[in-house]
Amino acid sequence: MSNVCWMNGSFRPESEAKISIFDRGLLFGDSVYEVLRVHHGRLFRAHDHYARMRNGLAELGIAAPMDEETFVRVLTKLVERNGVRDGTVYMQVTRGAGPRTHLIPKELAPTVFALAKEVALPSWSEHPQGVSIITVPEERWRRCRIKTTMLLPNTLAKQRAADAGAYEAVFVTDDGEVREGCSSNLFAVFQDRLCTAPAEGSILPGITRAVVLELAESLGLPAEEKRFTLEDLLQADEVFLAGTTNDVCPVVQVNDTTIGQGVPGPVTRKLMDAFAGELKALEV
Ligand code: PDD
Repeated sequence: MSNVCWMNGSFRPESEAKISIFDRGLLFGDSVYEVLRVHHGRLFRAHDHYARMRNGLAELGIAAPMDEETFVRVLTKLVERNGVRDGTVYMQVTRGAGPRTHLIPKELAPTVFALAKEVALPSWSEHPQGVSIITVPEERWRRCRIKTTMLLPNTLAKQRAADAGAYEAVFVTDDGEVREGCSSNLFAVFQDRLCTAPAEGSILPGITRAVVLELAESLGLPAEEKRFTLEDLLQADEVFLAGTTNDVCPVVQVNDTTIGQGVPGPVTRKLMDAFAGELKALEV
């Protein structure tokens, strides 16, 4: 018999629950969740779980889809409907479904669903022999080279840029190192020398970025993949973004600083033209 889940206000078989492919939980990892322990058919510390979920939602700017009483009522009912005595109950709230844009669309209705399952969780007090563990580098989440859908930091930063009246937000490390945009790579020109962060794992190796490097070579423009800081960036002669949805996009202001003369510079313009030429080649 299929388990019953709860989704957007009603109970239904898990096999009949459907999520939109436009759901931002799926596309951007834009959601929060809770897992509660169920013991003897009762929820453990439901109040604390609700509070943490509500705090997470508030931080993400997602309206809480239910109050605490409803949270407890829904999860308790779900546990009952599935006959769970010992196990877990899971609830996930996503920002909802909307067009796939990094910028967060307004007025989305959150998607909410909950699952309950019987699980034989280990009782360590009955098996006190202990376990072994390993250590791994703390790299949650540094592997930006992978084009994963774990894009929540990117969408939140893109929204922050829009709220500040800017087009893109560029990530800078604690050490001041300039990495890349939310959905673009970044180039700077220092004394006619093109510079972009190295594709060593801490940025997405953009296809457009690689095309720009190719074009620079064929145009005889010196270019290097090198780390540089925000301080350097603010003194750059030119800055531009590169990405599938940006092409080569000139940047004339970074934070409160005007770049160069406040207009797209000559190196950027050459590359914009050359890139447009690459696209034009698709027309034949
Ligand atoms: N994003 N850096 C990040 C973090 C990106 O998300 C993207 C593209 C790029 C540019 O890579 P490319 O030139 O291969 O598009 C760099 C896509 C367009 C997106 O998420 O919509």
